[in-house]
Amino acid sequence: MSPETPLPAYTRSQLALRNGQDRDEIWCAYNGLIYDLSTSRLWRNGHHYEHWAGQDLTDELVDAPHTNSVFGRFPVVGTLR
Ligand code: HEM
Repeated sequence: MSPETPLPAYTRSQLALRNGQDRDEIWCAYNGLIYDLSTSRLWRNGHHYEHWAGQDLTDELVDAPHTNSVFGRFPVVGTLR
């Protein structure tokens, strides 16, 4: 995607399909952006400790022993509508 291309906006239902169970894609939203975590070994099958992909996990980051810097190496695939 070139820098000029606007990011596609997805609804919560569309995001919910990318939970690592219904489709191969593993996406999660954080602060309005949707990240593709499909390549992460720590998110295999869409779960990460007690957290599930396919959702907006902004409010759940407080439970994590890490900051949002963990998103840095994953591509942003869209925005949450
Ligand atoms: C019980 C809560 C959680 C635990 C114990 C946990 C633990 C970890 C650990 C140990 C790592 C790898 C080391 C590191 O980068 O610090 C990691 C990476 C990561 N975590 Fe969490 N985490 C939790 C919650 C969350 C939540 C709520 C999110 C999303 C908002 C999240 C997103 C990520 C991401 C995207 C990575 C990077 C994965 C990778 O590099 O392959 N984590 N987490």
